[in-house]
Amino acid sequence: MAEHILEMKGISKDFPGVRALNGVTFQVVRGHCHGLVGENGAGKSTLMKILSGFYPHGTYEGDILVEGSVRHFRGIRDSEHAGIAIIFQELALAPNLSIAENIFLGNELAQNGVIDAAATHQKTQQILKEVGLDLDPETLVGGLGIGVRQLIEIAKALSKNADLLILDEPTAALTETETETLLTILNRLRNKGVTCIYISHKLNEIFRITDTVTILRDGQTIRTLPTKALDEAKVISFMVGREMNEMYPYRSRVPGKPMLEVKQWSVADPEIPGRLRLNRVDFTLHSNEILGISGLMGVGRTELAKSLIGAYGKVVSGELYLDGSLQRFETPRQAILAGLNYLPEDRKGSGLNLMMDIKENMTLASLDRVSSRGVLKKNLEIVESERYVQKLAIKTPSIEQKTGNLSGGNQQKVALAKWMLCSPRVLILDEPTRGIDVGAKFEIYNLMNDLVEAGLSVIMISSELPELLGVCNRILVMYEGRISAEFSHDEANQEKIMAAACLNPTEQQ
Ligand SMILES: Nc1ncnc2c1ncn2[C@@H]1O[C@H](COP(=O)(O)OP(=O)(O)OP(=O)(O)O)[C@@H](O)[C@H]1O
Ligand SMILES: [Mg+2]
Repeated sequence: MAEHILEMKGISKDFPGVRALNGVTFQVVRGHCHGLVGENGAGKSTLMKILSGFYPHGTYEGDILVEGSVRHFRGIRDSEHAGIAIIFQELALAPNLSIAENIFLGNELAQNGVIDAAATHQKTQQILKEVGLDLDPETLVGGLGIGVRQLIEIAKALSKNADLLILDEPTAALTETETETLLTILNRLRNKGVTCIYISHKLNEIFRITDTVTILRDGQTIRTLPTKALDEAKVISFMVGREMNEMYPYRSRVPGKPMLEVKQWSVADPEIPGRLRLNRVDFTLHSNEILGISGLMGVGRTELAKSLIGAYGKVVSGELYLDGSLQRFETPRQAILAGLNYLPEDRKGSGLNLMMDIKENMTLASLDRVSSRGVLKKNLEIVESERYVQKLAIKTPSIEQKTGNLSGGNQQKVALAKWMLCSPRVLILDEPTRGIDVGAKFEIYNLMNDLVEAGLSVIMISSELPELLGVCNRILVMYEGRISAEFSHDEANQEKIMAAACLNPTEQQ
């Protein structure tokens, strides 16, 4: 048996105007969990798409060796037969099929040419259990949350009994608990001898579960080292090509007048009649302020943002004052026109049209600004888009690039630019740095600071405590539809926030 279950040699791949990979060498030891890291657009997903046959033999240069012999995959089917299973960065489940149908799609369990429904049901149940899900196999996937879907993708990959499992940013949309489940499963698989390639921007995960790490930059292999020989600072400097001494550009500020006042804001649960999703939420956002909202996933952070802009169920009671005037938005469009914007957590739902190019997407929500009397001011559209491509270091050959062709993190940056470009008075960002590399995160925080200095007020909803602590002037914590605590930048720390996020406010002193 070859020591390396996998070797990729001299892999290069071009897209129109982009050299995505340039002579990459990548070797994976059997039984290891191998981390693959690098900035947005470094080439991680492309490398894995080549390995899995998504980009078939003939569309790239270089060689793939599995178990020491050269393989030419013409499609994903081929790589699956060679024992490789990939979970793509973009979730690929069919929403209108059941869990069981999704898991066995293309691999149907059949007897004499007839699908064996009972066996499928039973096998699905068993596989779901392995990933810690207690769900009916007949449940339609469409109604399930992103985190659950991700676990189903993993279940699907497990069902193929792969020797080599590839996970491309599997935890980007998972809750803390779901992440724990996933990491436990991966450890178990490793003990069973399964080799795994793990892509993530969350370096703490890389350090927790990998044995080896490969760092890519600009389509090239920079280093492959044992995880033990590395620390976060080293990985970051290999990734970005320079030392990063500072992760958070915190600026202290004196808050100005109230820009957004929310009073006794209660919202009905659209699914459970009589239940409140948000319960008498009170808070104020000032000018010259970045306000953080923390809390475990599912406590109502996203619902709060959505209901304020008129994109969530029935508002039972409450008042919203934007820059002093009482408002009640029925639609997000009304909120945008009044100067209240929201960047949703889910990139695909954030109104990015992946078929359109970067500049069209960026200016979509601010057409009023780049057009006069219905005529697009082409120049302005170009100037503004170029500015944001530069500011956010979006990796692309031009602003005419189709947004769907950008790497995952770079798409997120386009979404961010889209909402920043409408020059709102209040901007609510929901998990704005999800899937974004460390270097670009820093640029985004800087941009948030600049926007605040230019007169805008920002709310940042985030599951990453270090970023809230590192960027926000004040932090609110939510617990089950209420605000359970508030901390100034100086008071806040990880322990206090976790305590407020996990404990019922009435039980706290
Ligand atoms: N279908 C495509 N057409 C054109 N360019 C592409 C296409 N797919 C990827 N690219 C480009 O290739 C480069 C590598 O992209 P890739 O998706 O592999 O990056 P990544 O390392 O996975 O980044 P991220 O962390 O943001 O997911 C980027 O510059 C990207 O814009
Ligand atoms: Mg990627």
